[in-house]
Order: sequence, then structure tokens, then C-alpha cells
Amino acid sequence: MSQQTGHGHHQNTAHSHQHHPDAAHGGHHDHTHGHHHDAGDIDWDVMGPQLEQEAEVSRPQYEAAARWIAGLPTAPKVRRVLDIGSGPGVITCLLAEMFPEAEVVAVDGTPALLERTRNHAERLGLGDRVRTHEADLPEGLGGLEEADLIWVGNALHHMGDQRAVLAGFAALLRPGGTVALVEGGLQPRRLPRDIGIGRPGLEARLEAINAARFEDMRAALPGATRETEDWSALFTAVGLAPQGTRSFLLDLPAPLSDRARDHVVTEFARRRQMFEEELTAEDIAALDRLLDPDDPAGLLRRPDVYLLSARTVHLGRRD
Ligand SMILES: C[S@@+](CC[C@H](N)C(=O)[O-])C[C@H]1O[C@@H](n2cnc3c(N)ncnc32)[C@H](O)[C@@H]1O
Repeated sequence: MSQQTGHGHHQNTAHSHQHHPDAAHGGHHDHTHGHHHDAGDIDWDVMGPQLEQEAEVSRPQYEAAARWIAGLPTAPKVRRVLDIGSGPGVITCLLAEMFPEAEVVAVDGTPALLERTRNHAERLGLGDRVRTHEADLPEGLGGLEEADLIWVGNALHHMGDQRAVLAGFAALLRPGGTVALVEGGLQPRRLPRDIGIGRPGLEARLEAINAARFEDMRAALPGATRETEDWSALFTAVGLAPQGTRSFLLDLPAPLSDRARDHVVTEFARRRQMFEEELTAEDIAALDRLLDPDDPAGLLRRPDVYLLSARTVHLGRRD
């Protein structure tokens, strides 16, 4: 279809779009990313390590989702995958592994993350099948190539007019091709309701703050349009046939591996920093204890830290 910028520079700069705080909605991963300013921009440039850590820990969910898609009776031969809002490329590379005959194009508005993607692909020996394309959506839709699978992982909710973006994807699909939308699911849980410190229910309160932040983030996006988050109905509205919805569980019981535990620490540290204004003094004190590496009740040392989450994948097919 249209030209591919590959490793080059898209006309839009990384900062031509506004990224806003994302207080993960619905339950896919919880990404109250980045540095909160007013309503709080997400500084995607610095999010690489955190997004990588989260994607690595969540790998089993994505592998299961990709296997589901590849095994569908109506699955087309996948020659090209677009990974939209690909972030640092961990999932881009996983898709390249799961669809070994495909080239995978990582599409993102943040050059620093695309560079991480290229490095990651090279390290895994996938450099010949993984390409990057810098684009801000929806403006950059016209520069994308046609594809058999368009994977949109935890990214559509960062775009103001989600319906317009989905319509753009529908137009890019080859006949028989599929959009796989990772949205919703269940927010991760990591601690018991009563952790023996402060008022019980800390995680539920963090989740409520997160949900309010998500709403602010969406409202502040350029072209923000409210949609009922019925993804199947939106697929139908843009001419795609809903092909199924499944949720994939990440169920890492206590005691956690060091890697998963580090991820939990990262997530709580981010909330401690970002939600300071909304949190009570008691909850801040509890978070400070949880984040204290020397405290036996801290996240690094307590035995009851787990990780349980669900991500939902919605498929829409072009007939
Ligand atoms: C939450 S991260 C998801 C990364 C990865 N897909 C994952 O699931 O781990 C969202 C990504 O979307 C990108 N992004 C956000 N808004 C965008 C836009 N309007 N156009 C292109 N990329 C965008 C960000 O740069 C970021 O890398």
C-alpha cells in the first residue's frame, strides 16, 4: 500500500501528539505510566524499561492469545502483522515468533521505544522480520501498509477517536484478516485485602484512583470521543465481523519469582509517586512500608505477594 518509513523518520515528531496519563482501564495491564504533571502526561520516552518488564512478566498471556488467533479455523496465512502502539517491542518479537512466516511492523509514536524494539529484535535474531514505523495515530494511518493481522495491545485507549482508528484498521486489513484488540479484562491484584498494615483494602483504593485517572486521560486526548466500550459493536460499525472474545489469565501465586516481584515493586512505586495527592496519609505510610526494602512487611520480603490478572482480546475479521 503506501510507503513504509522503516527506520527512518516519520513526518510527525514524537511530541506532536499528547500522551496522557493512562490509568489502566478495565484490567489489561495497569499502566499508570509515567510522570504525572497536571492531568499528567505520559512520558513514553522513559517508559521503556517498565513496559518491557510488564510485557515479559505477562508473556504467557500473550502467547496463549497468539496461539488462539493462529489456530482459528478461519485464520488467514499471516504474511504481515502490524503491532500498533508496540511500545518497546517485547510483544512485537513474540508475535514474530508466533507467526514465523510473517514480517512484523512495530508502529508507535515514540522513536525511543521503536529503537528499543529494533535492538530487542536484533538480540533475538529477528532483525530480518521485524521492522519499525514511526507514526502517530490516527494522523499516520495513511502511511501504514496492509496486513493480515493488526494487533493493538493496550494502545487503542490512548487514541482520542477510537472508532476512527478502528475504521482505519479495517481498511488496512487484507480479506480474511483480523484486528486483535487487547482491551479490558481485570485489573491485576498483588496483595491480600488485609496486609496487616494500615487500613485494609489498599489495592482496591489504588484501583479506584487509577480508574478516575483513566477517565481524565481519555477526556484530555486530542479528538477525544466517548464510546461505549462494546468492542464487538464497534467492529460491526466499521465493517468487521466480530470473531470472538477471550480472556487470558496471568496467575502467579505467592511466592513470586524475583522478576515478578520486581515488577510488583515497580508498579507500587509508580502509584506511590503518581497518586500522592489523592492518597490518605495512612495509605501513603502503608505504601512507604511496602516499598521499604529493609522492612520485613515490604514487598521485597513479604511472602504473600502474588500476581493475578486477566487480559481480554477481541477479534474482528474482514470477510
Ligand atoms: C501502554 S503502551 C503499550 C505497549 C505494548 N503494546 C504493550 O502492550 O505492552 C502504549 C503505546 O502506544 C503508543 N501510543 C500512544 N498513543 C499513540 C498514538 N496516538 N499513536 C501511536 N502510538 C501511540 C505509546 O508510545 C506506547 O508505546
